[in-house]
Amino acid sequence: MNTANLRSLFIIFGGTGDLTHRKLIPAIYNLHYEGRLPDQFAVVGIGRRDKTPEEYLQDLYRAIKSFSRFPMDDTHWASLSKRIYYYQMDFTDASKYGELKTFLDDLADRHNTLGNQIFYLAVAPEFFEPIVKNLKDSLLCHGKSFWQRVVIEKPFGRDLQSAIKLNATIVDAFGEENTYRIDHYLGKEMLQNLLVIRFANLLFEPLWNRHYIEQIQLSSSETIGVEKRGPYYEQAGAIRDMVQSHMLQMLSLIAMEPPTSLTPEAIRDAKVTVLKQLKRMDRETVRKSVVRGQYGRSLDQQLLAYREEDRVSPTSNTETYVAMRLEVENDRWRGVPFYIRTGKRMPRKSTEVIIQFKDVHNNLYSHVPNLEPNLLVIRVQPQEGVFLQFNAKKPGNEDIIVPVQMDFCQNCEIGINSPEAYERLLYDVMKGDQTLFARWDEVYESWKFIDTILDVWKEEEPDFPNYPANTYGPKEADELLARDGKKWLNIHEPWTALGGK
Ligand code: BG6
Repeated sequence: MNTANLRSLFIIFGGTGDLTHRKLIPAIYNLHYEGRLPDQFAVVGIGRRDKTPEEYLQDLYRAIKSFSRFPMDDTHWASLSKRIYYYQMDFTDASKYGELKTFLDDLADRHNTLGNQIFYLAVAPEFFEPIVKNLKDSLLCHGKSFWQRVVIEKPFGRDLQSAIKLNATIVDAFGEENTYRIDHYLGKEMLQNLLVIRFANLLFEPLWNRHYIEQIQLSSSETIGVEKRGPYYEQAGAIRDMVQSHMLQMLSLIAMEPPTSLTPEAIRDAKVTVLKQLKRMDRETVRKSVVRGQYGRSLDQQLLAYREEDRVSPTSNTETYVAMRLEVENDRWRGVPFYIRTGKRMPRKSTEVIIQFKDVHNNLYSHVPNLEPNLLVIRVQPQEGVFLQFNAKKPGNEDIIVPVQMDFCQNCEIGINSPEAYERLLYDVMKGDQTLFARWDEVYESWKFIDTILDVWKEEEPDFPNYPANTYGPKEADELLARDGKKWLNIHEPWTALGGK
């Protein structure tokens, strides 16, 4: 493989943080393990903590052992660790960036990285702007023979206004073409696969519209609570943490028109069109169509309530669960409900998209009681795959119709060990491929949509907590679907028929 154009310095602000340990360093290790990194590559972790280089490497070694998908191999580690550096610095102090530049220039010479740099901002959101401003003043050169890219973690702003301000600072410094707004869901195998499933098969695309689809459900449930992230989560809540980014990105991939080509711009044009076409909600619709929740203690009292979690206010009104009904106002989707739900402390970890087809027109079998609908399920995690439910005759002399399932489990196949989302995304940043990163207009449109909900929520005090930990969320979320004569569809193994109505 020709890796020459990937040579670069990978500079992590927040080099001692959780994301670096859990995701970034394991991803770099896995890329190295697979031989995908060039020799001319080095990592610099920047942090405020006082650490010797040895201590830093020991921390990373442990992180790789715990979180990498490939096992720790001492030969690989010996070769990678020679190219990892720790740099201690207060990154809010503008006067320190000159020294940082000298340090990085030195490393660039030593590792022959040609001046290519990736600045990864794995820090709390309040540091995004100051760091980018300091980089602009001290480090950015806008040379033609090398590239300098910035990767911004979410949350990208906390509402439309703050996102606009943040974006102006970043784009002013780096330009849109060097800005990588990460949404790690886009790096997940099955979300990339969605494009293939939809557009490389005759089977699905002709049915992918309001004439044949009854409803679409997108669920992302987690078993974990907020863990050690109380201060961040108090500011975010589920709507900013999951819906504004991951859930709306998934929805736009499901609902978009066929892009004119597979170029990053064409795909992102198609996605942003969906976000623009989300039906705006007035106050009344927000009240009716959006449900927020916060977990209390589990029924057996073993799991703490959100308000009892570390560094969370005992009177917090931050939501840990959101469910909503959305509509996409275009010819393809008019009238088809899209239901989204996401929450912490649910009984199982899973992300899936369930597409329920309409009943057969003039069905010859309409006399059969409880005929089940056709369902197509895109399983994003923990299992990756596609599941199709249809009706068939039960073998035997009686005419009994039963729902049967075809199940393609991608990561059940021996030897399949799908890359982590971050591996794919970091590699794309090195290659300069922005397809799986949110473009500014996507972020803009999704905040515009979310802001209308936040505005209504500000006016009303929720009645929290309203669901016990280890359950599927507040009863209002069930009522939301019941009003449409529907219910949430939970896939369980072994498969049982999923009644869509
Ligand atoms: C992150 C959120 O973006 O996504 C977390 O900040 C959440 O709160 C996580 O737990 C979920 O990601 P995944 O890949 O585990 O579904």
